[in-house]
Amino acid sequence: MTAKLIRGTEIAKAIQQELKEEVKALKDKHNIIPGLVTILVGENPASVSYVTGKQKTAKELGFFSIQDNQPADISQAQLLTLVDKYNKDPQIHGILVQLPLPKHIDENQVLLAINPDKDVDAFHPINVGKLMIGEASFYPCTPYGVQQMLIRSGVEMSGAEVVVVGRSNIVGKPISMMLVQKQKGANATVTMCHTGTKDLAEHTRRADILIVAAGRPKAVTADMVKDGAVVIDVGVNRIGMTAEGKAILCGDVDFEAVKEKASMITPVPGGVGPMTITMLMLNTANAAKAASGLK
Ligand code: GUN
Repeated sequence: MTAKLIRGTEIAKAIQQELKEEVKALKDKHNIIPGLVTILVGENPASVSYVTGKQKTAKELGFFSIQDNQPADISQAQLLTLVDKYNKDPQIHGILVQLPLPKHIDENQVLLAINPDKDVDAFHPINVGKLMIGEASFYPCTPYGVQQMLIRSGVEMSGAEVVVVGRSNIVGKPISMMLVQKQKGANATVTMCHTGTKDLAEHTRRADILIVAAGRPKAVTADMVKDGAVVIDVGVNRIGMTAEGKAILCGDVDFEAVKEKASMITPVPGGVGPMTITMLMLNTANAAKAASGLK
């Protein structure tokens, strides 16, 4: 079997089109313009690239957006003051502090300082807790993107065996928590695997839906995948440079071999990546609506 590609680029485009129309209606009917600030500390090339993409999309969708670049040696107190400024800014509905932060800054303290109503990353403990009890205001962007890709590709989640490889706070833990909820687009039996898992392949081979966020190139090989499984590759690994200086990317799944066994698979690039940005925009638009008492 050669797998059907789940093209995040196309699904993201469709959601962005819906969003663009909604943003226009919000402006025309309610005079609301969703506002997003992205705070970047330092010049980590991957972070610069992610933040640039987020800003570009925000502008294309008609958002008010601010790119706030801060030097790598900003103090924790200065960063907290900056977050507070945007907490109080009525034009800003979403605050994103790009991670990772430099080592001298306590990431958890910064995330805790963001007003949970503007926490469009859904990393604040209040939003993490609300997700856990099935009462989320925001879903974290990458897991939300993964869930939307599955839903919009017609994959049945209810009762499915889902195996998640990776237990990060950004992907592995929240996607597991989302798909286990007794809700539409969820209700799965979820197994979370990690570096302490004794026999990874034994788990992955049971998966109807395999979600890989291991942070290791080609961590999942064809022998680890059940025939007909749906495979979502969240990994983005830079494995080299082209002669023109463009990064060569590969996922956490051995795509060429696994696509011969899976029924559906996401490519890298062009899979989950474009969905993350799109869901950030959706969260920001929803935050703007909520701030004005709209649903
Ligand atoms: N770094 C890598 N992914 C993310 C993300 O989704 N949000 C933020 N804020 N930082 C990240």
